[in-house]
Amino acid sequence: MIRTRVLFCLLISFVATVQSSAIIVSSSCISQASLYQYGCINNKTSIGCYCKNINWLGSVTACAYENSKSNKTFDSALKKIAAQCSSHRSYTLDDMKKIYLNASMYLRAPAKTDMKVLVNQPLTANETAFHYYYQNNYGNHLALIRSQWCAWGLVFFWAVVLTIATILNVMKKVFGKSIMPNSVKKSLIYPSVYKDYHERTFYLWKYLLQSLSFW
Ligand SMILES: *[C@@H]1O[C@H](CO)[C@@H](O)[C@H](O)[C@H]1NC(C)=O
Ligand SMILES: *[C@@H]1O[C@H](CO)[C@@H](O)[C@H](O)[C@H]1NC(C)=O
Ligand SMILES: *[C@@H]1O[C@H](CO)[C@@H](O)[C@H](O)[C@H]1NC(C)=O
Ligand SMILES: *[C@@H]1O[C@H](CO)[C@@H](O)[C@H](O)[C@H]1NC(C)=O
Repeated sequence: MIRTRVLFCLLISFVATVQSSAIIVSSSCISQASLYQYGCINNKTSIGCYCKNINWLGSVTACAYENSKSNKTFDSALKKIAAQCSSHRSYTLDDMKKIYLNASMYLRAPAKTDMKVLVNQPLTANETAFHYYYQNNYGNHLALIRSQWCAWGLVFFWAVVLTIATILNVMKKVFGKSIMPNSVKKSLIYPSVYKDYHERTFYLWKYLLQSLSFW
């Protein structure tokens, strides 16, 4: 029973990882492409303007290709980009792959001048900018989703609680007195035996127990 749950959880977290890393890759590619001039200077907020530009599409799909660790992530990232452009035109996955394949024949590295002068061919990703967006803006999102899916955060939390409790217990036996402050006992270890526990602690416990019953 536990084994099926663990396998199921790994499966879900795999799917979630492919999905969310595709979101992160596509958003980071779009963000780094906005460093360069694709003729949408007065229209930065409207992605529809960029979607009309074949060089922009080529650059963003090439960036997704370079930065996807697997074909699954690449396909998924292409779909996310297509979804962003859906107000302009509905691109299928095949359309996006064709755009990438065509662009791959014209790619060149970006230069500083591309920030001012209209880009007239697809650019490879600015990896510095890409990694900046990937790590700072979106990397945390991925970590959060992972810990939510498999409750790894909770497993870690319990491991810490049990370790501390064990250490304190051993120390109590060795030194013959409890060194755990009463406030810690109250809020963490036995909240329900105290009448005056805080409501927030109660909800934390309820949430933890519900999450744990998943296992
Ligand atoms: C911005 O883009 C939209 C859609 O591509 C277009 O309709 C609009 O005229 C543009 N606005 C400016 C100021 O270029
Ligand atoms: C291929 O890419 C180049 C450079 O972006 C572009 O000029 C051309 O129109 C593209 N061809 C097709 C069929 O999309
Ligand atoms: C990924 O896709 C490419 C082109 O479609 C293919 O040649 C390659 O074998 C695929 N790789 C894997 C691991 O499926
Ligand atoms: C790449 O991005 C970094 C960080 O945004 C920027 O400092 C650098 O000038 C960019 N390089 C080029 C060639 O545009």
